[in-house]
Amino acid sequence: MSTENFDAVDIIRIKRDRGTLSAEQIDWTIDAYTRGAIAEEQMAALNMAILLNGMDRAEISRWTTAMINSGERMDFSSLRNADGTVKRTTDKHSTGGVGDKITLPLAPLVAVFGVAVPQLSGRGLGHTGGTLDKLESIAGWRAELTNEAMMRQLSEVGAVICAAGAGLAPADKKLYALRDVTGTVEAIPLIASSIMSKKIAEGTGALVLDVKVGSGAFMKSLEDARELARTMVNLGTDAGVHTVALLTNMDTPLGLTAGNAIEVEESIEVLAGGGPADVVELTLALATEMLAGAGIRDADVAAALKDGRAMDKWRAMIAAQGGDNDAPLPVAKESEVVYAQADGVLASLDAMDVGVAAWRLGAGRARREDPVQAGAGVRLHAKPGDVVRRGQPLATMLTDTPERFERARPLLEGAAVIAPAGSRPNMELILERIAAS
Ligand code: URA
Repeated sequence: MSTENFDAVDIIRIKRDRGTLSAEQIDWTIDAYTRGAIAEEQMAALNMAILLNGMDRAEISRWTTAMINSGERMDFSSLRNADGTVKRTTDKHSTGGVGDKITLPLAPLVAVFGVAVPQLSGRGLGHTGGTLDKLESIAGWRAELTNEAMMRQLSEVGAVICAAGAGLAPADKKLYALRDVTGTVEAIPLIASSIMSKKIAEGTGALVLDVKVGSGAFMKSLEDARELARTMVNLGTDAGVHTVALLTNMDTPLGLTAGNAIEVEESIEVLAGGGPADVVELTLALATEMLAGAGIRDADVAAALKDGRAMDKWRAMIAAQGGDNDAPLPVAKESEVVYAQADGVLASLDAMDVGVAAWRLGAGRARREDPVQAGAGVRLHAKPGDVVRRGQPLATMLTDTPERFERARPLLEGAAVIAPAGSRPNMELILERIAAS
């Protein structure tokens, strides 16, 4: 006879029939799944019922708490400033996009102002890149740190970008892998609880969410992105984390690169005071929000990017994790150019197409255990709003394995829409700000 408190099939039926799960049912579900007492196919069915029928605020909150309780909680309260006061912590999380390298310049920039930035990041899966994959293109750089090494680096350098340890929200690790192969990633309650369980367990004092909207994002419409942002802001606020969200455009890739080493190169350009305008704009906006969340409202973040203070922090952060700041970045063995097919104005450049092209060229992985090519990806030569002429280079494809060009080229050719001269595409980057209500 089973000694379990509930039956998985009953729980699935409740959500299938649009019912509401009790706190006890949710606690049991997450615990039983984590220890293997709910089968993968049962959890897959429950995820699909949640995707189709949703969850109310109390259910999402309890689901998130149960995922936090499946593992350890980090505690940064022992971090101190030089005067003995507790060091504040602030973090940001992006829901994932194409060319989204913002964490790289952002973490050291914010650390310049004396706030600690514990940035626990992930690897890429599918068309969206992973911060750790990008940084691993730097010779010697290590993603895995012990909790002690992370605390030491936060105290000495002020910023760390590393892999989340296995102990942090293990229920989410198992659940996310299942959602990934069962078409249930895009459920707002599941995305919100997945992201916020990790961020709350991480123990940051303030959090800024970059919720992507558009073709290259999980959320294709502004309404869905708004709902996801509000759900996450409520979860963070209820857990005592100062949480704000920016809704930002992901119809077009960020910057001029989508890949690994080439995104590091572009981030270094930003840290050197240059780089594409959209990457700089979003880095400054998120830095301002992160610092405000930690109580610092008068920081001149643009100056810290221009005068080299953020670059100095970056170099210290990379060196602390074994990275060689002076080693050349890997370069793809082969390249091929994609040309504009008409004269006019580049009206749009589909982020999803560019992301999938970079992935097919070897920048991303199809399975968690696959390696990525450090040098692979797409370098863009034009952005929406630019005037282009037929035959002008629009993008360069980069890979070590040239047989991949054939599968990436049609995507890039299809990604670009060229409108008659004089057209003005909407290029607004930061669409909305959502704070606790
Ligand atoms: N990122 C996460 O960590 N979880 C999700 O569910 C989606 C994006």
